Amino acid sequence: MIARHLYLSLAGLAGLASLGLAQDVLFPHMHGLKYSELDQAVKLGLTTHVCKDEEEWYGMTTADFAKYKAIVIPDCMCNTSLTTIKFLDDTKKTWSPAVTGNMVIIGTDPSFHAKWYNLPGAYAMMRDSISLVSTGKNGTGMYFSLSCYYQRTAAPMTIQSLSEIGHFQVRGNLSHPCLNNAHLVAKSGVMTTLNDTIASNWNCSVHEAFSEYPRAGAGSFEALAIALNATGLGQRSFADNTTGIPYIIARGATPLGCGNNITEPAYNEECDNGPANGTPGDLCSSSCKCLHGVIAPGTCRSNVTSSSPSSTYSSTQFSNSGGIACFNKFLIYQSLSDRDSTLAIVFCHRRTFIIKLLGYLAFFHQITKGPADRHGISSRAAQPLSCSQRVFARFTQQSQAFKPLRFSVSTTGNCHGYG
Ligand SMILES: *[C@@H]1O[C@H](CO)[C@@H](O)[C@H](O)[C@H]1NC(C)=O
Ligand SMILES: *[C@@H]1O[C@H](CO)[C@@H](O)[C@H](O)[C@H]1NC(C)=O
Ligand SMILES: *[C@@H]1O[C@H](CO)[C@@H](O)[C@H](O)[C@H]1NC(C)=O
Ligand SMILES: *[C@@H]1O[C@H](CO)[C@@H](O)[C@H](O)[C@H]1NC(C)=O
Ligand SMILES: *[C@@H]1O[C@H](CO)[C@@H](O)[C@H](O)[C@H]1NC(C)=O
Ligand SMILES: *[C@@H]1O[C@H](CO)[C@@H](O)[C@H](O)[C@H]1NC(C)=O
Ligand SMILES: *[C@@H]1O[C@H](CO)[C@@H](O)[C@H](O)[C@H]1NC(C)=O
Ligand SMILES: *[C@@H]1O[C@H](CO)[C@@H](O)[C@H](O)[C@H]1NC(C)=O
Ligand SMILES: *[C@@H]1O[C@H](CO)[C@@H](O)[C@H](O)[C@H]1NC(C)=O
Repeated sequence: MIARHLYLSLAGLAGLASLGLAQDVLFPHMHGLKYSELDQAVKLGLTTHVCKDEEEWYGMTTADFAKYKAIVIPDCMCNTSLTTIKFLDDTKKTWSPAVTGNMVIIGTDPSFHAKWYNLPGAYAMMRDSISLVSTGKNGTGMYFSLSCYYQRTAAPMTIQSLSEIGHFQVRGNLSHPCLNNAHLVAKSGVMTTLNDTIASNWNCSVHEAFSEYPRAGAGSFEALAIALNATGLGQRSFADNTTGIPYIIARGATPLGCGNNITEPAYNEECDNGPANGTPGDLCSSSCKCLHGVIAPGTCRSNVTSSSPSSTYSSTQFSNSGGIACFNKFLIYQSLSDRDSTLAIVFCHRRTFIIKLLGYLAFFHQITKGPADRHGISSRAAQPLSCSQRVFARFTQQSQAFKPLRFSVSTTGNCHGYG
């Protein structure tokens, strides 16, 4: 039984890759203040555009956002009101599909600590994070300081403005006493100035700690910095034998222990091919995640599994074992865990596609361009659609984990033009 159909026009995204970049980094209006993040971006040699008012941001299309190497949502000087980032939440369906590049989400307020205390660590945090997100590779990146928006709340809160990217939860009430021992647990060649000493002892270094974030698949996130030895919800262990709770997370960084040619699932590695990680042709990313899905720890699914199209609905079924299937124009992969669900993929003409998830446990929620969701589905839609690209399928869990194991392909209905 078909639970739900979803129609998504990708026409608006067509040809994004061919658009020239306007400036390197986009800043929202955000109270019209001048933030240290802007100075740091300029010092890094990046060109910047600051929205002249909120209306400018609201008027932007996905293609407009995708013109930038990075979007920087600065720390609004330790503002505690979520109203400050309402613009981000209101427009998330527009900007999220553009953000396919590196991301850094910061559970503290570097602009505040730079302005009022001139802390070298605050400048270094902004500088390194902006460097990571504006590499210009893998699409538009994003820097997002959570400022002090969630710092008062002891219970985990979902970051609603990021819901198109994935499921993120943070909690606050962390100042009894302050979490002041910061420790970096991931690295990147472009992050050269921040270290544990200068990230620590900010009175308080940590305002929001992450209890949940997407951790599976090529589009997922790594802890970049933790509140060392902090205990409770969100506490994790890292490859250097430290424990703590992440307060800065990133997409595009290399976690400690990744790159030693040993797959360590305990540290959230799906693969580790040593120096080959992230190099062309290797199936393992520089973050030790399988680019096209994982079969078993250390064994990544290969890029392309070809299949032949069928002409009737449900007539072609693949024993997919949680992996990837390429139907000439799409790659879909997933890693959930209920074998009774079935995913059907239908290709249509004019860049419109429908994905129908068959199965009583789940219904199809959304197709969008973005990283892994909370259930480990990690794929993305891109233009032009080809086997080297991935379709994003995001599902809403109903009652238990589900895992479509079989695909069916159809060219019936109002669709045609199957590859
Ligand atoms: C925080 O932002 C809100 C709305 O964006 C504003 O009304 C408030 O004055 C700000 N508070 C501080 C302390 O800056
Ligand atoms: C915040 O933490 C303190 C100390 O751990 C605790 O006493 C207080 O009840 C917490 N506040 C909330 C709102 O949970
Ligand atoms: C951390 O960075 C500061 C400022 O650049 C530097 O003085 C210090 O030596 C560094 N500490 C370590 C442990 O590298
Ligand atoms: C921490 O707070 C103390 C007491 O208010 C102050 O003297 C010190 O300068 C602060 N340090 C930092 C790094 O903010
Ligand atoms: C963190 O915990 C470890 C192990 O208990 C201890 O050796 C280390 O000194 C602690 N570090 C800090 C900064 O508390
Ligand atoms: C972490 O601890 C394990 C077991 O105690 C040890 O084998 C390993 O060498 C340690 N790793 C580091 C980086 O210290
Ligand atoms: C990585 O490990 C494999 C075996 O697990 C080995 O064949 C290969 O030579 C190693 N590569 C490096 C660079 O050490
Ligand atoms: C681009 O993404 C791939 C796959 O996730 C990753 O291996 C690579 O490091 C990324 N490139 C950059 C510059 O972040
Ligand atoms: C996947 O395979 C296709 C052709 O087989 C190739 O063009 C593409 O670069 C590969 N993608 C990756 C990420 O290796």
